[in-house]
Amino acid sequence: MEFSTSLIATFDPAKKIVVLTGAGISAESGVPTFRGEEGLWKQYRAEELATPHAFEANPKLVWEWYDWRRGIIGKAQPNPGHLAIAEMERLFPDFALITQNVDGLHRRAGNSKVIEIHGNLWDLRCVADGRVREDNRVPLPQIPPLCECGALLRPHVVWFGESLDQEDLTQAYRLIEECDLLLVVGTSAVVQPVASFPLMAKEGGAFVIEVNMDPTPLSPRVDASFQGKAGEILPALLEKLQGYWGKGGNS
Ligand code: OAD
Repeated sequence: MEFSTSLIATFDPAKKIVVLTGAGISAESGVPTFRGEEGLWKQYRAEELATPHAFEANPKLVWEWYDWRRGIIGKAQPNPGHLAIAEMERLFPDFALITQNVDGLHRRAGNSKVIEIHGNLWDLRCVADGRVREDNRVPLPQIPPLCECGALLRPHVVWFGESLDQEDLTQAYRLIEECDLLLVVGTSAVVQPVASFPLMAKEGGAFVIEVNMDPTPLSPRVDASFQGKAGEILPALLEKLQGYWGKGGNS
């Protein structure tokens, strides 16, 4: 993979750098993405399961899907793509990561400045009192799980048709509006409001780079687009960045 010197130079450690990720970054860890053939679970699509309506109608079915995902994610390890992004946090002083993923793999890779804008599937929330608790058990001993108060617990994630956490959203908008460089990795860029972030960043004057296995609706509109596996492209990019800017990002 070739990266021009001018592209590497846009990653200036003096600038505000934001990375935005989707399910594609975790694909090489063995976590299924949402869209495309491998995104199917039994005969269901994510849009049929990740909704408040589906949970109301059949909490057991929705929880079976999440328990299945938790089983896969519990065994998965961060891949070289995650690790390269964790290194970028060390390289760039003004760095932030926004992820749509609920798998927690970015934190496990070592990123600390992370906004998990769709929540985290290791957190469970009581539908009655809203209290959140972490539960890492796989499989869960009871499906659907219940709160001590007797009410249902649900995954503490954002479903289709639900609003994002206001604080996370405000912070994400600020990062997107203010950033100088946005690196978008492994998202089909179709689920709002995150899908609009790359073009918002561009309108704000940021240089926008995309890394994805396949072309997306975003590809023709960004400043640079790299097609291939995140787990291969990001480590190669990181190596160039470290060579150019120095490992500490200060040279
Ligand atoms: P999608 O499943 O829609 O898209 C995954 C993207 O990753 C696709 O564009 C693939 O081409 C790309 N991809 C797959 N493997 C890759 C690899 N190894 N390297 C680079 N790219 C790769 O996932 P998201 O865009 O994250 O929301 O989906 C957005 C949201 O829709 C999710 O957060 C979830 C889902 O329903 C909620 O649950 C609210």
